[in-house]
Amino acid sequence: MAVEFLLSPPSLLFLFLLLAIPPDAAAGGPFVGVNLGTDVSNLLPPADLVAFLRLQRISHVRLLSPVLEILAALAGTGIRVCLCVPNNQLLAIGASNSTAAAWVARYVLHFHPGTLVTLLSVGDEVLTANPSAAPMLLPAILNLAAAVAAAGLDKTVKISTPHSFSVIHNPFPPSQAYFNQTLVAPYLLPLLRFLSDTAAPLMLNLYPYYVLTLAGGVVPLDSALFRPLPPGKEEVDPNTLLHYTNLFDAMIDAAYFSLRNLNFSGVPVLVTETGWPHGGDSRQEPHATAENADAYNSNLIRHLLLERAGTPLRPEATPSAYIYELFDEDLRAGPASETKWGLFAGDGAPAYLLHVAGSGGFLAKDTAERTFCVAAPPAEAEERTLQAALDWACGPGKADCAGIQPGEACYAPNSVRAHASYAFDSYYQRHGKAAGSCSFHGAAMVTTTDPSHGRCIFPGR
Ligand SMILES: *[C@@H]1O[C@H](CO)[C@@H](O)[C@H](O)[C@H]1NC(C)=O
Ligand SMILES: *[C@@H]1O[C@H](CO)[C@@H](O)[C@H](O)[C@H]1NC(C)=O
Ligand SMILES: *[C@@H]1O[C@H](CO)[C@@H](O)[C@H](O)[C@H]1NC(C)=O
Repeated sequence: MAVEFLLSPPSLLFLFLLLAIPPDAAAGGPFVGVNLGTDVSNLLPPADLVAFLRLQRISHVRLLSPVLEILAALAGTGIRVCLCVPNNQLLAIGASNSTAAAWVARYVLHFHPGTLVTLLSVGDEVLTANPSAAPMLLPAILNLAAAVAAAGLDKTVKISTPHSFSVIHNPFPPSQAYFNQTLVAPYLLPLLRFLSDTAAPLMLNLYPYYVLTLAGGVVPLDSALFRPLPPGKEEVDPNTLLHYTNLFDAMIDAAYFSLRNLNFSGVPVLVTETGWPHGGDSRQEPHATAENADAYNSNLIRHLLLERAGTPLRPEATPSAYIYELFDEDLRAGPASETKWGLFAGDGAPAYLLHVAGSGGFLAKDTAERTFCVAAPPAEAEERTLQAALDWACGPGKADCAGIQPGEACYAPNSVRAHASYAFDSYYQRHGKAAGSCSFHGAAMVTTTDPSHGRCIFPGR
């Protein structure tokens, strides 16, 4: 009997979550990208990581920390990179234009034009999370901009800084939103002038999840998840009579109204982070579930890439967004959900199924196309038949039956049917789902329903 690790990294060929992009996204249409953080214990090595991005047809990646090896591996892929400048480098970069120039040389110019850095995301929610560094934010941006311009890349590399949504006050209804007044004169006006002059976006980290969890039941879950609302339940902005069917659009419009109040309507909004955790503390964080994460991220992708209806205020302008995040960052501290925002585990195994079906050219393959091989129903396969097929699969068939041994994750339920399903699926996946590899004389059948349960993960997941 073959004894191997069942949870060895799955073959990339069998990962079916495909975040592809419509062909025109690279040409300026809205895109959906992913945030890539590296607080991951089992992160794929750079070359495999980049192969994984290409397999998933990810066209835009936001690197939460600048990692030279990943930047090097991205060369020649055409993937657009948004590079984050960490908070702890702001002071040095803001204080010295030569430090800024050295940073740009090291992380951007060195890889240019092989690796396409198109955005610098300077600092992380500095105005709200790190106010003592706020005076250095614009100087850092200007020094970086000067270095980029000196290299002749000012048309290629746009520079901005991501804000927490909390810089916007009174966001609902959106028409009454405005930027925190305390921040406007010293920081936001000069920043917006720079963004406007350089055709750079206002970066926002936008989390309907937090609005929902902090609102204490006022916001309907369906609105946060882009689900259809019952008739009469959509929000109508009394000042504009615009109808809001989801929280995401309302938050974007709150930003547009805030910009308009300061006469910067021309500055576009770019969502640098948005997402939903697929797990958390079941009592403290009841909305952090795989089902909700699937609904949010799948519907977000559909909303931005397929419907492309803009927002109620600006139907012509569909924002682009980076999903937070590609991989579960298991090394991060914080509430239970903090390590569970990923679409995948660090080795590329899907964290949950994303149902982005019916999206035309957007998806090369739907996650629902993942298939498994399990025992046929009792009417078609009686236990004796299953036992014989199980013995054959784990013996001559060389299926990997380690996971159903006593003490292993798939030992329970300890039934012939459950064990046969596992062995059949192992055999089927090992044979590349080839025709005839899920037969066992009629004792097995193919299913699209993932038979994994609890800690028991079936091969092919
Ligand atoms: C830095 O700023 C000084 C003073 O404005 C200027 O003379 C110098 O050329 C700048 N250096 C770089 C690398 O931009
Ligand atoms: C607005 O920003 C100021 C300056 O950072 C901060 O002290 C204040 O708490 C903010 N106001 C609100 C309501 O968040
Ligand atoms: C915006 O423009 C209007 C009309 O030109 C002007 O009255 C207003 O003061 C401006 N607001 C700001 C914040 O500059």
